[in-house]
Amino acid sequence: MSTDKNVFSDDDAHITELVKAKEALKLQRAVLKTMAELVEFRDGVTGGHIERTRGYLGVLLGALMKKGIYADEVDTWDIWLVLNSAQLHDIGKIAIKDSILRNAEKLSEEEFEEVKSHATFGESIIEKIEKGSDEQEFLHYAKILAATHHEKWDGSGYPRGLKGYEIPLLGRLMAIADVYDALISVRPYKKAFSHYKAVEIIREGSGIQFEPALVDVFLEVSDDFDKIAKDYELSQGEIDMKIDKIQTGEKTVLKIGGRLDSFTASEFQKTLINGFDDARHVELDCDELIYISSAGVRAMLSAEQRAEEAGGSFSLVNVCDEIMEVFDMTGFSDILNITRR
Ligand SMILES: [Fe+2]
Repeated sequence: MSTDKNVFSDDDAHITELVKAKEALKLQRAVLKTMAELVEFRDGVTGGHIERTRGYLGVLLGALMKKGIYADEVDTWDIWLVLNSAQLHDIGKIAIKDSILRNAEKLSEEEFEEVKSHATFGESIIEKIEKGSDEQEFLHYAKILAATHHEKWDGSGYPRGLKGYEIPLLGRLMAIADVYDALISVRPYKKAFSHYKAVEIIREGSGIQFEPALVDVFLEVSDDFDKIAKDYELSQGEIDMKIDKIQTGEKTVLKIGGRLDSFTASEFQKTLINGFDDARHVELDCDELIYISSAGVRAMLSAEQRAEEAGGSFSLVNVCDEIMEVFDMTGFSDILNITRR
């Protein structure tokens, strides 16, 4: 071991610096997490939105990095910080009135203007925190994300109406993540769209709302978006499928509600098949069905087969347009006996 005093003091300084850096990182994480929770708490409808959008952004960034798209810019980013800053994109919502944030009706023009102000509010909140700190790097991404995630490629977005490449790359990416999640989520004023429908809407928005090159990337990795949304649900135990049985003579009507995916597919299949224990004709009322997976379709095909074996019938009634579209796209509308809503 060296007894050179200078070496010791250099080491000490180095270690002190590392400890300091580690502490700073810990503090940054804690600040980001607390701020994100504040947003989540304030905006009653977001349930999981923050966590999922961070996941989607990660998927898009991963695809960009693999393909080397925008490599010059992305290579300079601190990816950990970008993804954690993404949690703050809606922080400006803490300044919006509860009565507006949780309004189940369609918003008036004036109320919508107030909602729109969350982008500039968010930017100024982050700016204020920045001014009180020596660390300027830390909230740099959060500020860009908060300020620009509602801008649109054609210049019709808000708050600044930035157009095309005037919108920072981070904002152009976040726009896709944010819109996808809004589409597949239930909002006080709308039902959830299926993954397929959400993908279609984003495809149609290419060159209008979103940058075409980024939509192309999204289309390639959209299955991963779907997976994130489902994984989140599984982790939250939010899957909620209920089937009520109504017996009328020879016919059993199974009224189905909630979301349906592989997690509950076997249970669903069992319920459908059991329907034939009581009757030869089973009708599945899909009025409240808002999502369906391939496992769900397979369960329905089994029920169809069971009906054939029993010399009875299996039909779906009250099927909404979004689910109908899934059946049309997969060709199952030709096999299953379906009545539209
Ligand atoms: Fe927003």
